[in-house]
Order: sequence, then C-alpha cells, then structure tokens
Amino acid sequence: MNEVPHESDALDEALMDQLAARARAVAKQAYSPYSKVRVGAALLDTEGRVHVGCNVENASFGATICAERAALTAAVAAGARQFVALSLWASPESRLLPCGVCRQCLYEFAPLLTIDVASSGAKKKRYQLAALLPGGVTKDDLI
Ligand code: THU
Repeated sequence: MNEVPHESDALDEALMDQLAARARAVAKQAYSPYSKVRVGAALLDTEGRVHVGCNVENASFGATICAERAALTAAVAAGARQFVALSLWASPESRLLPCGVCRQCLYEFAPLLTIDVASSGAKKKRYQLAALLPGGVTKDDLI
C-alpha cells in the first residue's frame, strides 16, 4: 500500500489552507484543451514562499507538463531548494495524485514532502512523498 494517507505533525493548518487556495486559484490558468482537466499546484518552501504552477498540455501529448513540475521549476528558478509541502487541486474533482515523473522530480529536493490533495471530495487527503515513491532515486544512487 503506497498511497497511505499521511498525518503530519508540525504543519500550520491555516497555512496549508492558504496553500490549497493558491493551488485552486492557479488551476484557472491551466492550458488543457485535450484532457479538459485543470490542475493547480502550490509548493511551500522552507522560507515560507509559495511557488505555483498549472498543467500545460501540448498537441504532442507527451510534451505535456504537469502542474507539480511547473511549480517546482518555477521554485528552483526563484532560488528555492528546500520544500515543506505541496497542495494540489484539480477540476473536475478527481482522485488525482502526482504522476510518477512528478513524484521523482519532487523527491530530488524533498523526499519527506507533505502532499495535500485538496480537490478529492469534501475531506482533504494528506500523503508523504516517500510513501508515494518507495525507492525513489537519489544522488547517492549514482555512484
Ligand atoms: N496532471 C497534472 O498536472 N498533475 C498530475 O498530478 C497528474 C496529471 C495533468 C496532466 C494532464 O494535463 C492532465 O492532468 C490529465 O492527465
């Protein structure tokens, strides 16, 4: 069972609600004429900054960029390297979780990242990245 909901301790829940609101807001910017799914991601760094991204699809489907990677690359470009939490929001509501590629990209920076999925039903679900990606590849594996 990889996708075990995660209870995290020291998170400020008011801040997590703000993060979810940012994810929901940026989902409106999604470019998704093919799937019609709008996804927003908001990534909180250890300095309290929030970096957002939405999915950007392409007529060559494999070139599509997910919201999580869009948020991560924006964050890295802004100088962030350490992250606390990610909030995801999707419309229409779905069981959406980060895809495998996004899990690995996030794992590079924050294996213990908390991931809140705000859009799946009334109750927000919380996961820890390491539980979603057992055996994620790290720098140490490249020796
Ligand atoms: N998508 C994301 O942006 N994030 C995810 O976690 C999974 C899927 C996007 C890619 C595509 O534009 C649409 O959702 C349907 O897969």
